[in-house]
Amino acid sequence: MDLFGADNEVEKRILKLTEEVNRHNSLYHTEDSPEISDSEYDKLFHELRELEEKYPHLKQANSPTQKVGGAIKNVFKSVEHKVPMLSLGNCFNEEDVQDFLDRIKRFLNTDKTPKIVAEPKIDGVSCSIRYENGKLTQALTRGDGKVGEDVTNNIKTIRNVPHVLQGKNIPDFVEVRGEIYMQDGDFEALNNTQAEKGGKVFANSRNATAGTVRQLNPEIVAERPLKFFAYALGDKSQTYASHKEELNNMNAWGFHVVEEVAVLDGLNAIMENYKALHEKRVKLGYPIDGIVYKVNDIELQKRLGFVARAPRWAIAHKFPAEQVTTVLKSIEVQVGRTGNITPVAKLEPVAVGGVIVSNATLHNEDYIKERDIRIGDTVFVERAGDVIPKVVSVVESKRLSDAVKFDFPKQCPSCGHDIVRVDGEAAYKCINHTACPAQQREQMVHVVSKNVFDIDGLGPKQIDLFLEKGFIQDWADIFTLENYKEEILALKGFKEKSVDNIMSSIEKAKNVTLPRFIAALGVDMVGIQVATLLAERFGDFENFKQLALDDIQNLTDIDGIGLVIAENIQSVFMYDDSLKLIQKVLDNGVKPQIYQAPAVGDSFFAGTTVVITGTLMSMGRSEAKEKIAQLGGKVSSSVSAKTDFVIAGEAAGSKLKKAQEFGVKVLTEEEFLKFI
Ligand code: IVH
Repeated sequence: MDLFGADNEVEKRILKLTEEVNRHNSLYHTEDSPEISDSEYDKLFHELRELEEKYPHLKQANSPTQKVGGAIKNVFKSVEHKVPMLSLGNCFNEEDVQDFLDRIKRFLNTDKTPKIVAEPKIDGVSCSIRYENGKLTQALTRGDGKVGEDVTNNIKTIRNVPHVLQGKNIPDFVEVRGEIYMQDGDFEALNNTQAEKGGKVFANSRNATAGTVRQLNPEIVAERPLKFFAYALGDKSQTYASHKEELNNMNAWGFHVVEEVAVLDGLNAIMENYKALHEKRVKLGYPIDGIVYKVNDIELQKRLGFVARAPRWAIAHKFPAEQVTTVLKSIEVQVGRTGNITPVAKLEPVAVGGVIVSNATLHNEDYIKERDIRIGDTVFVERAGDVIPKVVSVVESKRLSDAVKFDFPKQCPSCGHDIVRVDGEAAYKCINHTACPAQQREQMVHVVSKNVFDIDGLGPKQIDLFLEKGFIQDWADIFTLENYKEEILALKGFKEKSVDNIMSSIEKAKNVTLPRFIAALGVDMVGIQVATLLAERFGDFENFKQLALDDIQNLTDIDGIGLVIAENIQSVFMYDDSLKLIQKVLDNGVKPQIYQAPAVGDSFFAGTTVVITGTLMSMGRSEAKEKIAQLGGKVSSSVSAKTDFVIAGEAAGSKLKKAQEFGVKVLTEEEFLKFI
């Protein structure tokens, strides 16, 4: 055949394949009635692509290979979740599960355990997929729970994610949430191919999945064996009575839902189910790292609500961590942000829980002594989920005669200051806070981080570099970095644009909110949540400082702040050097703003102080407290002239009397219910 003839044949074949693949795409994605299997489809697709590579001039404008390849290049926009994507609390044994059930009963003020749905905790990457009028419109990653990344193009390539919802009961809009994952066999095959091609070999299937979901090239995503299991609803136009009903609906709309779902009654059934699933784990064919328990009744879920970022109505029961043995080569001590001295084991690298581990924590001196861990020992190392790996114990039969006991240092390895052990605590501390280079370095990393000043372009790497060059010595110096702009520009890796970005981010950060500023102080156990409580109570920074110093009770009176945290807070304001450092930060232009509570409208309880006494019949104390807080009120534990209302439940006692003495308005439980 002559050249023209060959081209002609090829062109015909390309035309035919283009038409066919487009037709199957539409059958699969839009009409949901595929005529051929995935592998038959893959064959056609690959044949077309190979021909196009050989004869690029014959490639059709409407070629399906274009669609996923060149035409669309991913940029992941940040998008706010309409309903936040929460995380789950963990539990590890029967007692923890019992506690979870008890908490629920206490909160709901009932002695009946509600029905619990148990379903496998799939070890992948979570995703929220939005459908409007039954059509897939957007897919977001979890991100930080509030804001995710738009990965719609990538998610559309997952073959078991419907582009159009099936069946009759299709809501106007709905977000289907679930886990993207790889089947065990698919993951192994992927790694084999990667190894053959000389590409990246993934440590575990979750890493492979995470890397794929955020791939910039959808063509690569389409080739990777991703799958999706649906397990929850986000924003939705329709409500359902139970979680089980939600699962059934998602299944009817065309999603895969795990088969191993059980609706259970009570602790015994829950523990039996746990044992059975733990044994079955390796036979499932998909990766799981525990079981999720959810209250089945949606009304009860709503009442139970959330604490911080996790629902009260759900929890993850984690499988025990994997343990392996390796050799402990040496022990180093590290100094943390608040001065805690932690011994760290340097290990012969070993794979555990899917990643290579060469450092593991030894917690503190007692931990090492109690287990008689010596340098040179063969030790058990454990890694659970994303938790820092730890040395668990020594393999005694493998102890060598030259294994060496570890002498805990008497001085801080960073600044040489004597270290102290606080009464009743296991950790040694370097108390040379403001003058200890290691602590200042950690403090700077903390200060620039997301939850605190959130400074773009500054992270551990840049901080180490600026420290080394002498541009900064303490965290106050971050706010005068502008003075070193020229010097920074002269460093490798810094361009005009990136330096401008850092500088403007620092300028912007100076008008910091009060909770962030308090969190920045680096007080032990005072993160952004406790800092928000303090900001709510004291309003502005000077007031906070003054009242915290005046009387520790001003701190301990706050719900959620105990004596230990209160003492930590006071100590920051009691030492000259830390006061000086705070003053330097303020002098460098940082202006903590006066705290403004989020608007709560003009509800009955807005701005009031309420005391609850006696037993409420309809709900537990915590639920009542939360309701009042949501409506802008504050619940206090003692009645005073400043109290606005006392809610009197069954068998109310001395507080009710006091309310009458002070002339405080008393509400019955019925009245209270009306107002909420
Ligand atoms: S429910 C409020 N169900 O676990 C309910 N999550 O630590 C939140 N996960 O980010 C999620 N399998 O990625 C739920 N059957 C399951 C799950 C599951 C895996 C993941 C999910 C979430 C994380 C929470």
